[in-house]
Amino acid sequence: RIYKRQMICRRDIDNLNVPFLAIYESLIPPEEEKVKQKQLLALLEKLVSKEWPKARLYIYGSCANSFGVSKSDIDICLAIEEANMEKSDILMKLADILQSDNLQNVQALTRARVPIVKLMDPVTGISCDICINNLLAVVNTKLLRDYAQIDARLRQLAFIIKHWAKSRGVNETYHGTLSSYAYVLMCIHFLQQRRPAILPCLQEMGTTYSVNVDDVKCAYFDQVNRLGDFGRRNKETIAQLVWGFFYYWAYCHDYANSVISVRTGSIISKREKDWTRRVGNDRHLICIEDPFEISHDLGRVVDKRSIKILREEFERAADIMQYDPNPCVKLFEPY
Ligand code: CTP
Ligand code: MG
Repeated sequence: RIYKRQMICRRDIDNLNVPFLAIYESLIPPEEEKVKQKQLLALLEKLVSKEWPKARLYIYGSCANSFGVSKSDIDICLAIEEANMEKSDILMKLADILQSDNLQNVQALTRARVPIVKLMDPVTGISCDICINNLLAVVNTKLLRDYAQIDARLRQLAFIIKHWAKSRGVNETYHGTLSSYAYVLMCIHFLQQRRPAILPCLQEMGTTYSVNVDDVKCAYFDQVNRLGDFGRRNKETIAQLVWGFFYYWAYCHDYANSVISVRTGSIISKREKDWTRRVGNDRHLICIEDPFEISHDLGRVVDKRSIKILREEFERAADIMQYDPNPCVKLFEPY
């Protein structure tokens, strides 16, 4: 399966740059959405600080990592030190507070894998999920946002890949396919691996930002504006990169032995991580190392059935990019 095909893309590949960039542009959220998000955050901050003056709210996920498309829900983290209160009680209390202020569909999901309060704000029409003390997510959100500032091609590629994954039904962790977060890490890793590289490996550079979150040391070079135009020596276009991304996951990735690692900017071996066999529900059929929680494989949700679906989708996409007369339509056809 590996290197099954010749690694040369079609001669007219660059005709696809204009339509791909048009798709990217159409997905960018308009400025007024950002304004509404800030408005909702301010309201929530006001309500929360009445009960817990020292608590803080952070936006994380796609509304803060610059990989959010238009009309995304917002993910919010409540940072709170309540030593003698159970997380589920904090969530119930939070739901009570929000309920009494006109917010709609307020629900505390205390038994979910990541317990949250869900709500909808009738004024802005925005839905939001609030979790408690998930500060690693806040820090990995910053890492993704910092990477996005280095080279415009990352945001373009990730928007197109996320749009493809949603259209094809392979962005559903509860069905065994991958999260948006995993797809963005796959894009970052892919651009770190190009030669010349389009992205550096920020965690291997001199530390300018460092925090400890629940015993995990999160440190990396975050002064990305000092990197100049890092990827300028690489002239690959967005169409070539979309082709290359799918080609890599369809025909080049060594699923049996390799782990992709943004943290090291390289591929590491499953053996080194002890991810060679199934442990509990973690099957490690496609391995994507979390940049900070390094024992965490973002591919762990993928099972025997869904790995087949995923790999067939990568092959379908690679073949469309190679041969289809109208890839920009075919690629995103609903499944
Ligand atoms: N996250 C995480 N670990 C995971 C999944 C998610 O830490 N296994 C955190 C990340 O900070 C991520 C955020 O949760 O940015 C939201 O995850 P997800 O919904 O996958 O990504 P979004 O960027 O919000 O994408 P979408 O536009 O699809 O909502
Ligand atoms: Mg989200």
